Amino acid sequence: MGPAAQQAFELLTTVDAETMRARARALTVDELAEPVPEEMHPLLQASPPTPCLDAIRAIYRSLVWYRSARSNMPYAQIVGPGSMLARDDVRMGLFMLHAASDYPDHVHGADEVYIVLTGSAEWSLNGRAYETKVAGDIIEVPSMTVHALRTFSDPALTLWSWTGDITMDRYRFT
Ligand SMILES: [Fe+2]
Repeated sequence: MGPAAQQAFELLTTVDAETMRARARALTVDELAEPVPEEMHPLLQASPPTPCLDAIRAIYRSLVWYRSARSNMPYAQIVGPGSMLARDDVRMGLFMLHAASDYPDHVHGADEVYIVLTGSAEWSLNGRAYETKVAGDIIEVPSMTVHALRTFSDPALTLWSWTGDITMDRYRFT
């Protein structure tokens, strides 16, 4: 496991549902935010009872949700600037991929780590062949690595983290 993944795991151990619920109640919801995405409910209901998924089931309705402009896929930030757990140096959140979806090649300055929580999806790094990843798999994407994601019959829920350059300054589709 690389340093970015290590950092993501350490951060994950600091997240507890009670604290997050309390902070969510105090949070001013951004005008751009979306309602809690409907498609999260059946996905989480069908997912096994793991400690991480249980924590997410407890808090996902309290998160501020957005949708990717490119793909309409729901995402939320749990840790980061302005989030429930405010940090200026790291972001962590959830990203759901619908079944039969495609998130095209893109790059950003942050070192990114995805952890597949449920379902399955495929990742391509640096234009290489797509590889299937399932619950428990970790995908490490170093800063400015071209990467793309896609799904077929299953949706997927991932936990993602950004460390290093967490700005959007260098985010672009390639
Ligand atoms: Fe990314």
